[in-house]
Amino acid sequence: MRLLVTGGAGFIGANFVHLTLRENPDVDVTVLDAFTYAGSREALAPVADRIRLVTGDITDGPVVDALVGAADAVVHFAAETHVDNALADPAPFLHSNVIGTFTVLEAVRRHGTRLHHVSTDEVYGDLALDDPGRFTESTPYNPSSPYSSTKASADLLVRAWVRSYGVRATISNCSNNYGPYQHVEKFIPRQITNLLTGRRAKLYGAGANVRDWIHVDDHNAAVWRILADGEIGRTYLIGADGERDNLSVLRTLLRLMDRDPDDFDHVTDRAGHDLRYAIDASALRSELGWKPTHTDFESGLRATIDWYRDNESWWGPLKNDVEATYARRGQ
Ligand code: NAD
Ligand code: TYD
Repeated sequence: MRLLVTGGAGFIGANFVHLTLRENPDVDVTVLDAFTYAGSREALAPVADRIRLVTGDITDGPVVDALVGAADAVVHFAAETHVDNALADPAPFLHSNVIGTFTVLEAVRRHGTRLHHVSTDEVYGDLALDDPGRFTESTPYNPSSPYSSTKASADLLVRAWVRSYGVRATISNCSNNYGPYQHVEKFIPRQITNLLTGRRAKLYGAGANVRDWIHVDDHNAAVWRILADGEIGRTYLIGADGERDNLSVLRTLLRLMDRDPDDFDHVTDRAGHDLRYAIDASALRSELGWKPTHTDFESGLRATIDWYRDNESWWGPLKNDVEATYARRGQ
């Protein structure tokens, strides 16, 4: 199989490439990535001699057309992904997430190539903290942020291209990922690397907001299940029953890193901060037989802390700029 992976130099995409080459060594992988601030050549260095790496933008029609035409399937990860950046400057999110996905869709339409579109549970908006419900495939779209609204737009384009043009696509909406190679702007790696560099951990508001955590390898294993056996036109929700409020996650990190439980700062809350995300992944489990294997969150966090401790050469050069940006925003 010839597989095109857009955004394969980012956090989830790079882990997807690693997983693919570990478990399906015969797959012929091409990565298309623009190497924005979030793309990392080092994340792909261990497999550099086993993949084709193309530097290019997913809005570049001729480049995308040629690569899609040479592939049997496309897994589309490329996107702008950080909510705080979207609040500060939404324009790149419209460019990459909406026009980029449109460009990919037009190419798969021309070539008849199978597409899996990777999306987020944030398209459903948020749930109340005391709501017993969870998101399902039939929850109405109700995005809150410039990030989630552009991801929702992309998902709707995919659905329309399936219905109108018979494009062979599936969609997955996954909850919050953690694991190696996640950019230090995101919650878990930011706190770990703050503590490793002698900074204090930073919690938005009171920390009552709930996220539904999943290990990146469990997400990517689900993407493979859907790519192999998913029903064309379907949306699958991916989640591992990992709901935790931010304060609890932070307190666990502080304990695992031998710090005092109150060794953190409360900082300015995020505008429009989504309260709670929670995924009901029973359709994926029952229909495609997927189940998560990293079910012990604490041991997953411990391994992630160890990875950041051992790989300061990867994240160290990014850290000062990220913290300077946060400091300007009062976060
Ligand atoms: P990331 O920000 O770490 O990586 C994004 C990658 O896309 C980078 O390598 C970047 O260079 C590339 N990229 C961005 N714009 C591009 C463009 N115009 N052309 C080509 N490449 C471009 O993101 P991530 O956390 O790995 O997320 C990957 C996908 O998974 C996204 O679509 C995101 O919406 C989705 N997702 C993420 C999470 C999460 O918890 N991180 C959860 C659910 C879904
Ligand atoms: P993030 O990793 O940005 O993911 P998302 O907002 O897409 O879910 O943030 C996860 C949660 O952590 C979110 O509720 C915001 C919060 N947060 C903090 O409390 N402190 C931080 O330094 C960051 C980056 C996030």
